[in-house]
Amino acid sequence: MTVLPYKDKEGSKKEQVAEMFNSISKRYDFLNHFLSMGIDILWRKKAIRQLKADQPKLILDVATGTGDLAIEALKLNPEKVIGVDISEGMLDMGREKMKRLGYEDKIEMSMGDSEQLLFEDNKFDAVVVAFGVRNFQDLEKGLADMQRVLKPGGKMVVLEFSTPTKFPMKQLYSFYSNSVLPLIGKVVSKDNSAYTYLPESVQEFPYGDDFLAILNKLGFKQTTCIPLTFGISSIYTAVK
Ligand SMILES: C[S@@+](CC[C@H](N)C(=O)[O-])C[C@H]1O[C@@H](n2cnc3c(N)ncnc32)[C@H](O)[C@@H]1O
Repeated sequence: MTVLPYKDKEGSKKEQVAEMFNSISKRYDFLNHFLSMGIDILWRKKAIRQLKADQPKLILDVATGTGDLAIEALKLNPEKVIGVDISEGMLDMGREKMKRLGYEDKIEMSMGDSEQLLFEDNKFDAVVVAFGVRNFQDLEKGLADMQRVLKPGGKMVVLEFSTPTKFPMKQLYSFYSNSVLPLIGKVVSKDNSAYTYLPESVQEFPYGDDFLAILNKLGFKQTTCIPLTFGISSIYTAVK
């Protein structure tokens, strides 16, 4: 079942996702850190640490949004990070941030769709994506295109929400994400649907072994899953 941000509107998932992120872009960073109590920052750090031994020089950050994962990737001392996203609003916020922090020469932010990346085959040393794959219209197509632009032997790192399975975290998290999070999200972002879409899309999304099975099917090698914070999120790594 495809979970759409705006159930009462027309348009493909991709169009609706872009519209939703355009609508919440100004509040996105604040809500991210507030609703996760800052844990999202630690998750991104851990995701990027998976590439420490690889020392990638050219990194692609898919679904870069406002660029927080791209900024974290600078810790690997790459020559360049290219961030792509389908939401102009998120990219605008990201570009402002890069300007403010003086990262414009290291991080390039451009319009780009994960399912039709405008890069040649085998270009990047590493491809990363945080909280993006759940929003893809066609998950396998997006992952396959990320694989295409990755160099043979290069690593992909995916950070995405998953679902805690054990008592009492399963129950506590379910209450938080289905009741508390949509309410705060709605009031702060002024978007009635965005923070209802979030838990709904997480519930439908494959995680753990199911996500690894998709990566394996696509031909990725050495696939691993690292659950984070009682399984609220997971990091997946895969080699081309
Ligand atoms: C939850 S945000 C994550 C942003 C950022 N990576 C972070 O860690 O905060 C998800 C982003 O995915 C983008 N997105 C969704 N589908 C996409 C696609 N097919 N191609 C590129 N970006 C996409 C959205 O526009 C949005 O900016």
